[in-house]
Amino acid sequence: MPQQRQQVAVITGAAGEISQQIALLFSKRNIKLVLTDIDETSLGRFAATLGGESDCLAIRHDVAKMEDAERVAESCRGAFGQVDYIVNAAGLYQHLSLAEIGEEDWRKSMAINLDGVFFTIQALRPLLSKGSSIVNIASLAGQRGSLNHTPYATAKGGVLTLTRSLAQELAPRTRVNAISPGLIDTRMMESLDAAKRQAMISSTPLQRLGRPDEIASVVDFLCSDAASFMTGESLQVNGGLYIN
Ligand SMILES: NC(=O)c1ccc[n+]([C@@H]2O[C@H](COP(=O)([O-])OP(=O)(O)OC[C@H]3O[C@@H](n4cnc5c(N)ncnc54)[C@H](O)[C@@H]3O)[C@@H](O)[C@H]2O)c1
Repeated sequence: MPQQRQQVAVITGAAGEISQQIALLFSKRNIKLVLTDIDETSLGRFAATLGGESDCLAIRHDVAKMEDAERVAESCRGAFGQVDYIVNAAGLYQHLSLAEIGEEDWRKSMAINLDGVFFTIQALRPLLSKGSSIVNIASLAGQRGSLNHTPYATAKGGVLTLTRSLAQELAPRTRVNAISPGLIDTRMMESLDAAKRQAMISSTPLQRLGRPDEIASVVDFLCSDAASFMTGESLQVNGGLYIN
């Protein structure tokens, strides 16, 4: 039997807690990793736990910059030749009322949460293999809006639309899906006002925060053959908060 080629995954925001769980799961599946983040120090520390450069590349990558995405694509091409999975998970969550949002805040949120997804996919597009899969981490905020998080929610809503558009354009070679997490217990949510956090837990039927590994397992599903007829979909992973 011919030996199967090892699969390659690019994960952005890979110093983040959700991305790290995704990387750990992919690593267990023997998938080669290209991990990127703007926080080079934390990224390097994490990548060092996953093996040498032949299995795991760590690249400083500001997702808001197209030239950084092109550099990531060049490194991928040089190291592995192609890409089977892209997980867009870099994100910035800001708490700002409408009166507080300045032009710079707005632009920064759009640049990281929305442009970053587009730039990464655009740069890696020529490397996508037949049967490849892209998973964009959106948010419950992008589905139904979020009080005092308008730039974030708007950008994440854009990610959902981008997902459905690219699912059409990249088919049948590549599937493109999104996940909309609810409240997941990572440092991103530590900044949430304690009263709002408690109120959201109270209105979550499962009565708790989600864990990063509970998002990773859904990413893994969307990348697997078990999801081979799914594209343009967004999965809600929020303990039922969405239906309340
Ligand atoms: N934690 C939640 O409750 C929750 C809910 C819904 C959606 N999400 C989404 O899940 C994804 C992962 O979030 P997390 O909870 O693991 O948060 P996290 O803060 O642990 O990870 C986010 C990562 O993004 C990186 N990042 C920020 N700006 C960047 C930039 N310009 N370029 C590259 N990397 C950058 C950060 O350095 C960090 O490592 C994000 O897209 C977030 O919006 C999280």
